[in-house]
Amino acid sequence: MLAEAGDFAEWRRAARGLLADGVAPQHVSWRGSEEGASLFGDDRTIASGGAVSLSRELLQIAERVICHRDADVPARLYRIIWRAARDRQLLARTTDADVDWLRGADKAIRRDVHKMHAFVRFRRLGEDAGRESFAAWFEPTHRILRLTAPFFQRRFYGMDWAIVTPDARAIWRDETLTYGPGGTRDEVPDSDVVEDQWRTYYGAIFNPARVKVAAMRAEMPKKYWKNLPEAQDIAPLLAGAEARVERMREAAVSLANPLTDKWRTRVQDEWIRDDDVATLGDLARAVDRCTRCPIGCNATQGVAGEGPDAARIMMVGEQPGDQEDLQGRPFVGPAGQVLNDALAEAGLDRAQLFLTNAVKHFKFEPRGKRRLHQNPTGAEIDLCRWWLDKERALVKPGLIVTLGASALRGVTGKAASIASMRGAVHELAGGGRLIATIHPSFLLRLPDRARAAEERAMFVADLALARQIAA
Ligand code: URA
Repeated sequence: MLAEAGDFAEWRRAARGLLADGVAPQHVSWRGSEEGASLFGDDRTIASGGAVSLSRELLQIAERVICHRDADVPARLYRIIWRAARDRQLLARTTDADVDWLRGADKAIRRDVHKMHAFVRFRRLGEDAGRESFAAWFEPTHRILRLTAPFFQRRFYGMDWAIVTPDARAIWRDETLTYGPGGTRDEVPDSDVVEDQWRTYYGAIFNPARVKVAAMRAEMPKKYWKNLPEAQDIAPLLAGAEARVERMREAAVSLANPLTDKWRTRVQDEWIRDDDVATLGDLARAVDRCTRCPIGCNATQGVAGEGPDAARIMMVGEQPGDQEDLQGRPFVGPAGQVLNDALAEAGLDRAQLFLTNAVKHFKFEPRGKRRLHQNPTGAEIDLCRWWLDKERALVKPGLIVTLGASALRGVTGKAASIASMRGAVHELAGGGRLIATIHPSFLLRLPDRARAAEERAMFVADLALARQIAA
């Protein structure tokens, strides 16, 4: 008798005991507590711990599949582990009916988890003792709340929240995760201010040039639409897609022709030696003429960092893009737009930040009249660190946020992976702290809308962490 449907720990305890006692699947009747007491009056309590060893992979799959809504899942899973205990190769037998069912059920659960990560939308409830609290209503296909809650715990660590589903609720309060009974949609407010931000964001990442309506429906099935504020904008966005593609074509790349020097607008001003740089103004002039590496030969101008000279947070990108190169300012092109929106959502004021790049000139490959972005090499980043270090020495930020792998290398001098450093605050060798996150242009490149929404939520959470640490 299982007290709670979908509770893996309870099922595993029972299954292990039965397995250790050698009880064959056909002699077990699995029931939920709502199905009432035994018809046979001979219920046994399973006490044995069980010494039968099962593969890690199978246990991980079982932990997911137990959330499946089909009533016979506990029994089917038990039959599979019973067989697997006798046949180590069972999972590899792809034509086996049990294995086929298991893989299918696992796929359905993983898909459901993915959708929940992407489509939960929190509504603000209010503020209590300085902590904001939020609630979300969600109707997953399966009983996956316990599988997904740790993701929301990591991502929204700094606020109190509850996710209410028809089966159960997860509550994160005072940095403790608890579970309670299911609820109803009317427990959660219908809309709030965050909603507008979602709609703005969706409008911004909606790429009219890549619209594939069938694929869109598959990724964001209609059943989720009623709880997604941005879904109401889908029809108008689709209707305006063609005109937007035309505008994008015109605005996406400058027509600066790198093969002539007509586009070089650089103004020659007073020469300043690198070693004499004493202010951010000096630095901006000196960086313009830097010849430590050849990138600058083709760029319009050097782009130094901008922001208050006593900023608490320094945010480091990779290198100026096409628009930044022409305007001489960091993050003013499409990636800058994504960054601005995410900063606003995380409660960070761009004007209070020092924004800069690991590399100060635009590196590109000429393609006709277009200039296509090229990644700087590790050696170029290392050469340009001289300028970044100078900016760090002048601004002395308490916290540096690196956007993307090039920025991380620029700051740390090492080629570390973002994934290995993300979600934590690191102490920097020369003092100050570091948070590593993705580059905003990564979000612009993701064709899968659900994935983009998920990645963006993580990006905003990283920025919110930066705000907390700096505060
Ligand atoms: N990408 C960057 O890394 N920096 C900018 O300034 C603009 C785009």
